[in-house]
Amino acid sequence: MAGLDEVLRRHRVVICAGSGGVGKTTTAAALAVYAALSGRRTMVLTIDPAKRLANALGVRAIGGIGSAVTVEDVPHGMLSAMMLDQKGAWDELVQRHAPSAEIRDRIQNNRFYQHLSQSFAGSQEYMAIEQLCELHASGAYDLIVVDTPPTRHALDFLEAPQRLADFLDRRVVKWFVRPYFSASWATMRFVNRTVGFLFRRLEEATGISALVEVSEFFTAMSGLFEGFEPRVRRVYKLLRAADTAFVLVATPEEQVLGEAEYFTRKVRELRMSLSAVVFNRSHREMAGSRRSVRAEDVLKVMKRAVGSASLATKLTDNFIRYEAIGRGDGLRIEAFRRVLPKDTVCVEVPNFNSDLHSVADLRAMHRFLMAA
Ligand SMILES: Nc1ncnc2c1ncn2[C@@H]1O[C@H](COP(=O)(O)OP(=O)(O)OP(=O)(O)O)[C@@H](O)[C@H]1O
Ligand SMILES: [Mg+2]
Repeated sequence: MAGLDEVLRRHRVVICAGSGGVGKTTTAAALAVYAALSGRRTMVLTIDPAKRLANALGVRAIGGIGSAVTVEDVPHGMLSAMMLDQKGAWDELVQRHAPSAEIRDRIQNNRFYQHLSQSFAGSQEYMAIEQLCELHASGAYDLIVVDTPPTRHALDFLEAPQRLADFLDRRVVKWFVRPYFSASWATMRFVNRTVGFLFRRLEEATGISALVEVSEFFTAMSGLFEGFEPRVRRVYKLLRAADTAFVLVATPEEQVLGEAEYFTRKVRELRMSLSAVVFNRSHREMAGSRRSVRAEDVLKVMKRAVGSASLATKLTDNFIRYEAIGRGDGLRIEAFRRVLPKDTVCVEVPNFNSDLHSVADLRAMHRFLMAA
């Protein structure tokens, strides 16, 4: 079976997805460094509010625009990184598609827009994919590694474009652009009790005089929405392309694997391709699963090694407990692998003693990520 290096070699876009906190950002950074080291012009695109990737690459901060990253042994220019800042990405989208500077300013100064661009659920995911399309179209990179946002659920990333498209559905938008929307609350209550109530709640929550600003926003944005459906179609086309691969990152915990299994099914349903699974932070039984270790044998060895009987007992307890965790991880991973298509690359990365925050750390991961 081919390994992850083959997955990197055969694709132009590699998307690291998975549940929150499992190691997506770290894995994306490690894969990008590996690809750059093997001579491919690589871009790693990340949405990492905690700036962990920046930490991992030893970079203070990565700007909204792609910047070259200097990493030991990587020839200059081979590795670039880009940290997506959500607000910036929306502004850029508006910039790119607004028909005139005046409309652009009107949109950007609109408070409803400011709220939407900062907190609309899914907009971060959508912007990541939108950015990915731009980078891909530029042709400047041999490989783009995408880190996905810290969503509760890995699927949010895949569904965001459609959700946003539904939200910005032209029929709905048209409704907002109707003249009575710039009218007063009194008129609104007259038009529709429920909608009037909802907007009052929105106003309370955001401090925005919703009715007027929402209408303003949609009126100004209407030119932008025209092209939205085709853009979403383009996004899904890229996600389904033969040279786009998904790498699922999971830790061998019950709940994470449950979500991961759901993700693999959903990816298949969406006709996208899951190429590899990284079981991160897994524990391994020292003796291997074929042979169980007897506590009294361990105790004997420990006593010989440390002298003190009480310390030896503690160390033995600790060892036996670790073995049990390792056995559990091993069994769960095995069960999960059974539901995967045979050609899915599976690798295990151990739980290291400390967080992975340097290029040296990332390189320590390569041995496991690239194991055949
Ligand atoms: N194999 C590992 N061993 C030890 N620590 C690890 C390992 N993999 C990741 N970590 C650490 O776990 C933390 C979370 O990793 P990371 O930020 O990559 O997860 P994430 O999936 O991107 O999280 P989020 O969903 O919040 O974006 C980091 O501090 C990272 O250094
Ligand atoms: Mg992350």
